[in-house]
Amino acid sequence: MNEIEQIKEKALKEHIPIIMDDTLEIVEEILQEEHPKKILEIGTAIGYSAICFAQYLDKNGKIDTIERDEKRIAEAKLNIKKLDLEKIINIINGDAVDVLPKLDEKYDIIFIDAAKGKYPFFLKESIRLLADDGIIIADNILYKGYTLSNYNKHKQRTAVRGPREYLNELEGNKELETKLLEVGDGLTITRRKKI
Ligand SMILES: C[S@@+](CC[C@H](N)C(=O)[O-])C[C@H]1O[C@@H](n2cnc3c(N)ncnc32)[C@H](O)[C@@H]1O
Repeated sequence: MNEIEQIKEKALKEHIPIIMDDTLEIVEEILQEEHPKKILEIGTAIGYSAICFAQYLDKNGKIDTIERDEKRIAEAKLNIKKLDLEKIINIINGDAVDVLPKLDEKYDIIFIDAAKGKYPFFLKESIRLLADDGIIIADNILYKGYTLSNYNKHKQRTAVRGPREYLNELEGNKELETKLLEVGDGLTITRRKKI
């Protein structure tokens, strides 16, 4: 088993949520085509997806990835070090709700994979930070099928409302075009429309 597979195994064993294999395959196809220089990830966990994405960066490319859980940050740092990617993957420690408004670079790929209730906010900030020909990818958008159903249980309401509002916002946005794929837990791929 190589080091990346070991990180994945450990995450699965410890029930740390990481990108699913079929979803990763789609994202990697996009990265292979785009050769991004800058990727922004919202939701690092223990660094698995960022480490996978790093292989597809353009020369001198960089990944900024945001995480608020101290324990996961510590583990992500160790994993990133193990793969000698410290100069390429930069973990931004904090809540993305506070971190995103402080960023002002443009990113070629933005991968949203954090608290579902905050997806509408993440989308607003991602549009602001997106390079002209950039792509916003959001995972878990179908949330086990709840997003497009009538499901309305109190406990899950915010987590369901977030992806719903995210999709509504995209539908109403005339400048963006979005594909929704039923891969993993639902994935959207959003680009600016070509004029
Ligand atoms: C699904 S996991 C990320 C998995 C990772 N992208 C991967 O595939 O390897 C989501 C992570 O986002 C973090 N998170 C959730 N909401 C956040 C927020 N508002 N700001 C920063 N991190 C957040 C959680 O602590 C969790 O580790």
